Amino acid sequence: MIAAGGTRLLVVGASGLVGGALTEQASNAGYQVLGAARRPQGWATRALDLTQREQIESVLKEFEAQVVFVCSAYTHVDGCERDVSRSAVENVQSVANLIGALRGSNAFVVFYSTDQVFDGSGDYFVESDPVHPLNVYARHKREAENLLLKRGQTLVVRSAWIFGHELQQKNFVYQTIRAARRGERLKVPIAQSGNPTWSEWLASSTLELLQQGMSGVVHLTGGETLTKSNWARQVIRDLGLPPIEILEVPPAEAGQVAPRPGRVVLKSERHSLIQPSLRSILELLKTKFARL
Ligand SMILES: NC(=O)c1ccc[n+]([C@@H]2O[C@H](COP(=O)([O-])OP(=O)(O)OC[C@H]3O[C@@H](n4cnc5c(N)ncnc54)[C@H](OP(=O)(O)O)[C@@H]3O)[C@@H](O)[C@H]2O)c1
Repeated sequence: MIAAGGTRLLVVGASGLVGGALTEQASNAGYQVLGAARRPQGWATRALDLTQREQIESVLKEFEAQVVFVCSAYTHVDGCERDVSRSAVENVQSVANLIGALRGSNAFVVFYSTDQVFDGSGDYFVESDPVHPLNVYARHKREAENLLLKRGQTLVVRSAWIFGHELQQKNFVYQTIRAARRGERLKVPIAQSGNPTWSEWLASSTLELLQQGMSGVVHLTGGETLTKSNWARQVIRDLGLPPIEILEVPPAEAGQVAPRPGRVVLKSERHSLIQPSLRSILELLKTKFARL
Protein backbone atom coordinates (compact mmCIF):
# COMPACT_ATOMS: atom_id res chain seq x y z
CA MET A 1 0.00 0.00 0.00
CA ILE A 2 1.62 3.23 -1.18
CA ALA A 3 -0.17 6.39 -0.04
CA ALA A 4 0.51 9.95 -1.26
CA GLY A 5 1.69 12.04 1.75
CA GLY A 6 5.25 12.82 0.65
CA THR A 7 6.10 9.38 -0.83
CA ARG A 8 9.01 9.89 -3.25
CA LEU A 9 8.25 8.92 -6.85
CA LEU A 10 10.79 8.96 -9.67
CA VAL A 11 9.07 9.19 -13.07
CA VAL A 12 11.42 8.23 -15.91
CA GLY A 13 10.06 9.50 -19.22
CA ALA A 14 8.34 12.50 -17.63
CA SER A 15 8.50 14.52 -20.86
CA GLY A 16 6.45 11.88 -22.68
CA LEU A 17 2.72 11.26 -23.06
CA VAL A 18 2.22 8.91 -20.09
CA GLY A 19 5.07 10.21 -17.92
CA GLY A 20 3.85 13.80 -18.27
CA ALA A 21 0.30 12.93 -17.17
CA LEU A 22 1.63 10.87 -14.27
CA THR A 23 4.06 13.52 -13.05
CA GLU A 24 1.37 16.19 -13.13
CA GLN A 25 -1.24 14.07 -11.34
CA ALA A 26 1.10 12.62 -8.74
CA SER A 27 2.43 16.10 -7.90
CA ASN A 28 -1.14 17.41 -7.54
CA ALA A 29 -2.00 14.42 -5.31
CA GLY A 30 0.75 15.32 -2.82
CA TYR A 31 3.48 12.86 -3.81
CA GLN A 32 7.04 14.15 -3.92
CA VAL A 33 7.86 13.66 -7.60
CA LEU A 34 11.07 13.88 -9.59
CA GLY A 35 10.46 13.81 -13.36
CA ALA A 36 13.37 12.64 -15.52
CA ALA A 37 14.22 12.01 -19.18
CA ARG A 38 17.36 12.07 -21.31
CA ARG A 39 16.56 15.65 -22.30
CA PRO A 40 14.94 17.66 -19.48
CA GLN A 41 11.85 19.41 -20.82
CA GLY A 42 8.19 19.68 -19.85
CA TRP A 43 7.62 17.71 -16.64
CA ALA A 44 11.13 16.24 -16.82
CA THR A 45 13.43 18.45 -14.79
CA ARG A 46 16.31 15.99 -14.32
CA ALA A 47 18.54 14.50 -17.03
CA LEU A 48 18.66 10.70 -16.81
CA ASP A 49 19.43 8.07 -19.42
CA LEU A 50 18.30 4.59 -18.31
CA THR A 51 20.83 3.01 -20.66
CA GLN A 52 23.58 4.46 -18.38
CA ARG A 53 23.60 2.56 -15.10
CA GLU A 54 25.83 5.03 -13.26
CA GLN A 55 23.34 7.82 -14.03
CA ILE A 56 20.53 5.76 -12.46
CA GLU A 57 22.66 5.06 -9.39
CA SER A 58 23.47 8.72 -8.98
CA VAL A 59 19.81 9.83 -9.25
CA LEU A 60 18.68 7.10 -6.82
CA LYS A 61 21.38 8.12 -4.33
CA GLU A 62 20.30 11.72 -4.53
CA PHE A 63 16.52 11.23 -4.51
CA GLU A 64 15.98 7.85 -2.71
CA ALA A 65 12.84 7.04 -4.69
CA GLN A 66 10.33 4.72 -3.04
CA VAL A 67 8.60 4.10 -6.35
CA VAL A 68 10.16 4.26 -9.82
CA PHE A 69 7.82 4.65 -12.80
CA VAL A 70 9.32 3.47 -16.08
CA CYS A 71 7.39 5.46 -18.69
CA SER A 72 10.44 5.59 -20.92
CA ALA A 73 11.03 3.32 -23.89
CA TYR A 74 11.95 3.31 -27.54
CA THR A 75 8.26 3.50 -28.46
CA HIS A 76 8.63 3.76 -32.25
CA VAL A 77 7.32 0.27 -33.18
CA ASP A 78 8.61 0.36 -36.77
CA GLY A 79 11.91 1.90 -35.62
CA CYS A 80 12.39 -1.12 -33.31
CA GLU A 81 11.83 -3.49 -36.24
CA ARG A 82 14.48 -1.67 -38.30
CA ASP A 83 17.01 -1.27 -35.48
CA VAL A 84 16.76 -4.34 -33.27
CA SER A 85 19.89 -3.58 -31.28
CA ARG A 86 18.70 -0.06 -30.39
CA SER A 87 15.42 -1.56 -29.20
CA ALA A 88 17.27 -4.19 -27.17
CA VAL A 89 19.36 -1.53 -25.43
CA GLU A 90 16.60 1.02 -24.83
CA ASN A 91 13.72 -1.35 -24.10
CA VAL A 92 15.42 -4.25 -22.29
CA GLN A 93 18.96 -3.36 -21.18
CA SER A 94 17.69 -0.10 -19.66
CA VAL A 95 15.30 -2.07 -17.43
CA ALA A 96 18.08 -4.52 -16.51
CA ASN A 97 20.22 -1.50 -15.57
CA LEU A 98 17.48 -0.17 -13.32
CA ILE A 99 17.09 -3.55 -11.62
CA GLY A 100 20.87 -3.67 -11.09
CA ALA A 101 20.90 -0.16 -9.65
CA LEU A 102 18.04 -1.08 -7.30
CA ARG A 103 19.81 -4.17 -5.90
CA GLY A 104 19.45 -4.16 -2.11
CA SER A 105 16.57 -1.68 -2.26
CA ASN A 106 12.91 -2.62 -1.93
CA ALA A 107 11.73 0.31 -4.06
CA PHE A 108 8.60 -0.53 -6.02
CA VAL A 109 8.71 -0.33 -9.85
CA VAL A 110 5.78 0.52 -12.13
CA PHE A 111 6.40 -0.40 -15.76
CA TYR A 112 4.25 0.41 -18.79
CA SER A 113 3.85 -2.31 -21.37
CA THR A 114 1.75 -2.90 -24.43
CA ASP A 115 -1.32 -4.73 -25.78
CA GLN A 116 1.00 -5.89 -28.57
CA VAL A 117 2.39 -8.67 -26.37
CA PHE A 118 -0.73 -10.49 -27.65
CA ASP A 119 -1.24 -11.69 -31.24
CA GLY A 120 -4.92 -10.75 -31.57
CA SER A 121 -6.07 -14.36 -31.97
CA GLY A 122 -8.69 -14.15 -29.19
CA ASP A 123 -11.85 -12.06 -28.69
CA TYR A 124 -10.11 -10.39 -25.76
CA PHE A 125 -7.16 -10.96 -23.44
CA VAL A 126 -6.99 -10.87 -19.64
CA GLU A 127 -3.85 -10.66 -17.53
CA SER A 128 -3.36 -14.44 -17.17
CA ASP A 129 -3.66 -15.19 -20.91
CA PRO A 130 -0.51 -16.46 -22.64
CA VAL A 131 1.37 -13.84 -24.66
CA HIS A 132 2.60 -14.13 -28.25
CA PRO A 133 4.37 -10.98 -29.47
CA LEU A 134 4.54 -10.54 -33.27
CA ASN A 135 7.16 -7.80 -33.55
CA VAL A 136 10.52 -6.74 -32.07
CA TYR A 137 9.07 -3.92 -29.94
CA ALA A 138 6.51 -6.23 -28.30
CA ARG A 139 9.07 -9.02 -27.83
CA HIS A 140 11.41 -6.61 -26.06
CA LYS A 141 8.61 -5.15 -23.93
CA ARG A 142 7.78 -8.72 -22.86
CA GLU A 143 11.42 -9.40 -22.00
CA ALA A 144 11.46 -6.30 -19.81
CA GLU A 145 8.17 -7.37 -18.16
CA ASN A 146 9.75 -10.73 -17.33
CA LEU A 147 12.89 -9.19 -15.81
CA LEU A 148 10.78 -7.00 -13.52
CA LEU A 149 8.29 -9.72 -12.58
CA LYS A 150 11.21 -11.96 -11.63
CA ARG A 151 12.60 -9.21 -9.38
CA GLY A 152 9.20 -8.67 -7.69
CA GLN A 153 7.92 -5.43 -6.09
CA THR A 154 6.56 -4.54 -9.53
CA LEU A 155 3.38 -3.47 -11.24
CA VAL A 156 3.34 -4.06 -15.00
CA VAL A 157 0.61 -1.94 -16.61
CA ARG A 158 -0.34 -3.03 -20.13
CA SER A 159 -2.16 -0.37 -22.12
CA ALA A 160 -2.99 0.55 -25.72
CA TRP A 161 -3.65 3.38 -28.17
CA ILE A 162 -2.85 6.09 -25.63
CA PHE A 163 -3.94 9.64 -26.42
CA GLY A 164 -4.11 12.99 -24.63
CA HIS A 165 -2.12 16.15 -24.22
CA GLU A 166 1.60 15.81 -24.79
CA LEU A 167 4.59 18.02 -25.40
CA GLN A 168 5.61 16.18 -28.58
CA GLN A 169 2.06 16.32 -30.03
CA LYS A 170 2.60 12.98 -31.77
CA ASN A 171 -0.27 10.72 -30.71
CA PHE A 172 -3.05 9.75 -33.12
CA VAL A 173 -5.46 12.47 -31.96
CA TYR A 174 -2.89 15.16 -32.83
CA GLN A 175 -2.21 13.47 -36.20
CA THR A 176 -5.93 13.55 -36.96
CA ILE A 177 -6.31 17.18 -35.85
CA ARG A 178 -3.36 18.28 -38.00
CA ALA A 179 -4.71 16.49 -41.08
CA ALA A 180 -8.19 17.98 -40.57
CA ARG A 181 -6.88 21.53 -40.05
CA ARG A 182 -4.81 21.28 -43.24
CA GLY A 183 -7.63 19.63 -45.18
CA GLU A 184 -5.39 16.66 -45.93
CA ARG A 185 -6.42 13.08 -46.56
CA LEU A 186 -5.58 10.77 -43.64
CA LYS A 187 -4.23 7.31 -44.47
CA VAL A 188 -4.78 4.69 -41.77
CA PRO A 189 -3.90 0.98 -41.75
CA ILE A 190 -6.80 -1.27 -42.62
CA ALA A 191 -8.16 -3.92 -40.23
CA GLN A 192 -6.45 -2.74 -37.06
CA SER A 193 -8.63 -2.21 -34.00
CA GLY A 194 -7.85 -1.34 -30.43
CA ASN A 195 -9.06 0.48 -27.36
CA PRO A 196 -8.13 4.18 -27.19
CA THR A 197 -6.91 5.03 -23.68
CA TRP A 198 -6.74 8.53 -22.23
CA SER A 199 -3.34 9.31 -20.69
CA GLU A 200 -4.91 11.17 -17.75
CA TRP A 201 -7.26 8.28 -16.89
CA LEU A 202 -4.34 5.86 -17.22
CA ALA A 203 -2.27 7.98 -14.83
CA SER A 204 -4.99 8.36 -12.19
CA SER A 205 -5.91 4.66 -12.43
CA THR A 206 -2.28 3.62 -12.03
CA LEU A 207 -1.98 5.76 -8.89
CA GLU A 208 -5.21 4.24 -7.57
CA LEU A 209 -3.97 0.67 -8.10
CA LEU A 210 -0.67 1.58 -6.49
CA GLN A 211 -2.53 2.88 -3.43
CA GLN A 212 -4.50 -0.36 -3.31
CA GLY A 213 -1.25 -2.34 -3.18
CA MET A 214 -1.69 -4.01 -6.58
CA SER A 215 1.35 -5.78 -8.04
CA GLY A 216 2.04 -8.16 -10.92
CA VAL A 217 0.44 -7.61 -14.33
CA VAL A 218 -2.60 -5.44 -14.83
CA HIS A 219 -4.50 -4.36 -17.96
CA LEU A 220 -5.65 -0.72 -18.14
CA THR A 221 -7.36 0.43 -21.34
CA GLY A 222 -10.50 2.23 -22.41
CA GLY A 223 -13.55 0.02 -22.90
CA GLU A 224 -14.47 1.02 -26.48
CA THR A 225 -12.96 -0.95 -29.37
CA LEU A 226 -12.55 1.00 -32.62
CA THR A 227 -10.81 0.66 -35.96
CA LYS A 228 -8.23 3.38 -36.69
CA SER A 229 -10.57 4.94 -39.28
CA ASN A 230 -13.54 5.03 -36.89
CA TRP A 231 -11.34 6.51 -34.17
CA ALA A 232 -10.25 9.28 -36.57
CA ARG A 233 -13.89 9.91 -37.57
CA GLN A 234 -14.94 10.16 -33.93
CA VAL A 235 -12.11 12.60 -33.14
CA ILE A 236 -13.13 14.81 -36.08
CA ARG A 237 -16.80 14.70 -35.14
CA ASP A 238 -16.45 15.20 -31.39
CA LEU A 239 -13.81 17.94 -31.66
CA GLY A 240 -15.88 19.73 -34.31
CA LEU A 241 -13.09 19.61 -36.93
CA PRO A 242 -13.64 20.03 -40.68
CA PRO A 243 -14.39 16.62 -42.28
CA ILE A 244 -11.62 15.05 -44.37
CA GLU A 245 -11.22 11.87 -46.39
CA ILE A 246 -10.04 8.93 -44.29
CA LEU A 247 -8.52 6.21 -46.38
CA GLU A 248 -7.94 2.64 -45.15
CA VAL A 249 -4.77 1.33 -46.78
CA PRO A 250 -2.56 -1.77 -46.45
CA PRO A 251 -0.24 -1.39 -43.41
CA ALA A 252 2.88 -0.90 -45.60
CA GLU A 253 1.22 2.03 -47.39
CA ALA A 254 0.44 3.57 -44.01
CA GLY A 255 4.19 3.39 -43.27
CA GLN A 256 4.13 0.30 -41.05
CA VAL A 257 7.09 -2.07 -41.26
CA ALA A 258 6.56 -4.18 -38.13
CA PRO A 259 3.87 -6.87 -38.19
CA ARG A 260 1.00 -6.02 -35.85
CA PRO A 261 -1.95 -7.93 -34.46
CA GLY A 262 -5.20 -7.02 -36.22
CA ARG A 263 -7.44 -6.59 -33.22
CA VAL A 264 -6.40 -6.68 -29.59
CA VAL A 265 -8.89 -6.02 -26.82
CA LEU A 266 -7.53 -6.00 -23.27
CA LYS A 267 -9.83 -6.74 -20.34
CA SER A 268 -9.04 -7.08 -16.69
CA GLU A 269 -9.76 -9.91 -14.30
CA ARG A 270 -8.02 -7.97 -11.51
CA HIS A 271 -9.82 -4.63 -11.13
CA SER A 272 -13.05 -2.90 -12.11
CA LEU A 273 -11.80 0.57 -13.08
CA ILE A 274 -13.71 1.96 -16.08
CA GLN A 275 -12.62 4.79 -18.35
CA PRO A 276 -15.25 7.49 -19.07
CA SER A 277 -16.70 7.43 -22.61
CA LEU A 278 -14.46 8.66 -25.44
CA ARG A 279 -17.16 11.18 -26.34
CA SER A 280 -17.06 12.76 -22.87
CA ILE A 281 -13.24 12.78 -22.82
CA LEU A 282 -13.06 14.49 -26.23
CA GLU A 283 -15.64 17.01 -25.02
CA LEU A 284 -13.37 17.78 -22.05
CA LEU A 285 -10.33 18.10 -24.31
CA LYS A 286 -12.09 20.25 -26.90
CA THR A 287 -11.01 23.60 -25.49
CA LYS A 288 -7.42 22.49 -24.89
CA PHE A 289 -7.04 21.05 -28.40
CA ALA A 290 -8.73 24.14 -29.90
CA ARG A 291 -5.65 26.14 -28.82
CA LEU A 292 -3.34 24.07 -31.04
N1 LIG B 1 1.69 5.52 -26.63
C1 LIG B 1 1.00 4.38 -26.65
O1 LIG B 1 -0.03 4.27 -27.36
C2 LIG B 1 1.43 3.21 -25.79
C3 LIG B 1 0.63 2.04 -25.80
C4 LIG B 1 0.99 0.98 -24.97
C5 LIG B 1 2.10 1.06 -24.15
N2 LIG B 1 2.87 2.19 -24.17
C6 LIG B 1 4.04 2.24 -23.28
O2 LIG B 1 3.85 3.33 -22.38
C7 LIG B 1 5.12 3.91 -22.05
C8 LIG B 1 5.07 5.41 -22.28
O3 LIG B 1 4.80 5.65 -23.65
P1 LIG B 1 4.63 7.12 -24.21
O4 LIG B 1 3.78 7.02 -25.42
O5 LIG B 1 4.28 8.04 -23.10
O6 LIG B 1 6.14 7.41 -24.68
P2 LIG B 1 6.74 8.74 -25.27
O7 LIG B 1 5.71 9.81 -25.38
O8 LIG B 1 7.51 8.34 -26.48
O9 LIG B 1 7.76 9.21 -24.14
C9 LIG B 1 8.90 8.49 -23.86
C10 LIG B 1 9.63 9.20 -22.75
O10 LIG B 1 10.75 8.42 -22.36
C11 LIG B 1 11.95 9.21 -22.40
N3 LIG B 1 13.03 8.28 -22.70
C12 LIG B 1 13.21 7.52 -23.80
N4 LIG B 1 14.30 6.77 -23.67
C13 LIG B 1 14.85 7.06 -22.47
C14 LIG B 1 15.99 6.61 -21.77
N5 LIG B 1 16.85 5.73 -22.29
N6 LIG B 1 16.23 7.10 -20.53
C15 LIG B 1 15.39 8.01 -19.98
N7 LIG B 1 14.29 8.47 -20.58
C16 LIG B 1 14.04 8.01 -21.84
C17 LIG B 1 11.64 10.27 -23.46
O11 LIG B 1 12.38 11.46 -23.34
P3 LIG B 1 13.89 11.57 -23.92
O12 LIG B 1 13.84 11.08 -25.32
O13 LIG B 1 14.29 13.01 -23.73
O14 LIG B 1 14.67 10.67 -23.05
C18 LIG B 1 10.18 10.57 -23.12
O15 LIG B 1 10.11 11.38 -21.98
C19 LIG B 1 6.16 3.18 -22.92
O16 LIG B 1 6.78 2.20 -22.13
C20 LIG B 1 5.34 2.51 -24.00
O17 LIG B 1 5.96 1.30 -24.41
C21 LIG B 1 2.56 3.27 -24.96
